[in-house]
Amino acid sequence: MFVFSKGKPKTFNPIMKKNITAGSVRFSRKFRNKEGKMISSFNGEPIKEEGIENNIWVIKNGMFKSTKDLIAFNHPAIFPEELVQKHIFSWSNENDLVYDPFMGSGTTAKVSIQMKRNFFGSEISKDYYDISMERIKLIEQILI
Ligand SMILES: C[S@@+](CC[C@H](N)C(=O)[O-])C[C@H]1O[C@@H](n2cnc3c(N)ncnc32)[C@H](O)[C@@H]1O
Repeated sequence: MFVFSKGKPKTFNPIMKKNITAGSVRFSRKFRNKEGKMISSFNGEPIKEEGIENNIWVIKNGMFKSTKDLIAFNHPAIFPEELVQKHIFSWSNENDLVYDPFMGSGTTAKVSIQMKRNFFGSEISKDYYDISMERIKLIEQILI
């Protein structure tokens, strides 16, 4: 997915993951210098408990995997909820406003509400808009 920002992003919350080699010492590290050449450097510091998750995400997708909301599958191209969660977490904070111009089955709306963001959206198809409303109602019943 491409992430566009007008200027520097207002918010960036990197997704962290546990380092499986935490505590061990890395003696040699390779990195790319300004000229683009890979060079090694000595680094005797212990590896931290957590590091930033890389940007290749393996996410389950498809029937019964993208969401538990069966009604959503009446839309032909839904996003998996996990994909939306990761982006909303990365680029917004609680009470921020999330806008989805192509709401489809309402995945972004649902996840925004779950993650305590404000939300507004648009959807050209009345049928898909109705699916969104059903999903939002479901989550609001749970939250109340
Ligand atoms: C790929 S789907 C979005 C799926 C959504 N992310 C989900 O998880 O269900 C794109 C949606 O954009 C809607 N759409 C297309 N053109 C539109 C427009 N001009 N204004 C609003 N919605 C539009 C389509 O009807 C379709 O439901």
